[in-house]
Amino acid sequence: MSERGFMVRPRAQHRSARLLRIAARFGLMAAMSALLPTCSAPTKNDGEDPRKTAGLFVANSSDFRGFHQWASYDVTDDAELAGIHDGSTVTEYINELPPSGSDEFPLGTIIVKEATGGTIAHELFAMVKRGGGLNKIAVGWEWFDLIPVDDARDSVTIKWQGNGPPDGESYGGDANSGCNTCHRDCGNDSVCAKPFAFSNF
Ligand code: HEC
Repeated sequence: MSERGFMVRPRAQHRSARLLRIAARFGLMAAMSALLPTCSAPTKNDGEDPRKTAGLFVANSSDFRGFHQWASYDVTDDAELAGIHDGSTVTEYINELPPSGSDEFPLGTIIVKEATGGTIAHELFAMVKRGGGLNKIAVGWEWFDLIPVDDARDSVTIKWQGNGPPDGESYGGDANSGCNTCHRDCGNDSVCAKPFAFSNF
C-alpha cells in the first residue's frame, strides 16, 4: 500500500501540476482573447467613432467643422414650395450617406441646412442621429441651431440643441414652431428634403 501510495503520489502531483500549467496557459489565452477585441478596436484604422459603438452619439461643435466640404444639395426650390426661408438660397449638407436599402439614417448622421440671403440673412440648422432614446417624435434625432464661426476652419458654435428650440427661440420667425411637427410629417425618418429620400440610395 505504502509503496503504491508512494508511487502514485508524485505522478498525481506531477499530473496536477501539469494540468495547472495548462489551465494557467489556457486561462491566459482566454484572458488575452477576451482583451483582444477591446484592445484592438481603437487601433483599427477604419476610424469608427466610439460614440457609434456605444450607441449614443452626442455631437459637439467640432463634429460640424468643415461641413461645407460634405456632400451637398441645393434644395432652394423645395424650401420655396414648403413656404419656408423665403427668398433664401437653401443648401443641405450630410456627413455620410445612408447605406443602400436603409429605412433609417444611421447613428451619427449629421445633416446641416444653411439658408442665406433671405429675410433672415444667414440661418444654420442641423439634425443629428443621436439615439439613446432621445426624441420620441422625430425618433432619435437631436435638433441644433448653429452659429458660423469665421475662423478659416469652417467651424460653428452651438446656439442650442435638444428636442426643439428652447423658450424664446424662434424658427424662421415663428416663435411657436417646433422642429418635430413638420419633420415627423415628412416620413423618411423625419428627413424632408427630396435628395435624401431613401429611394435615392
Ligand atoms: C414649417 C415646417 C418645418 C419646421 C417647423 C422645421 N422644418 Fe426643418 N425642414 C422643413 C422642410 C420642408 C425641409 C426640407 C428642405 C427644405 O425644403 O427647406 C427641412 C429641412 C431641414 C433640415 C435638413 C434635413 C431635411 O429634413 O431635409 C434640417 C437640419 C432642419 N430642417 C432643421 C430644422 C430645425 C432645427 C427645426 C426647428 C428649429 C426645423 N427644421 C423646423 C420643414 C420644417
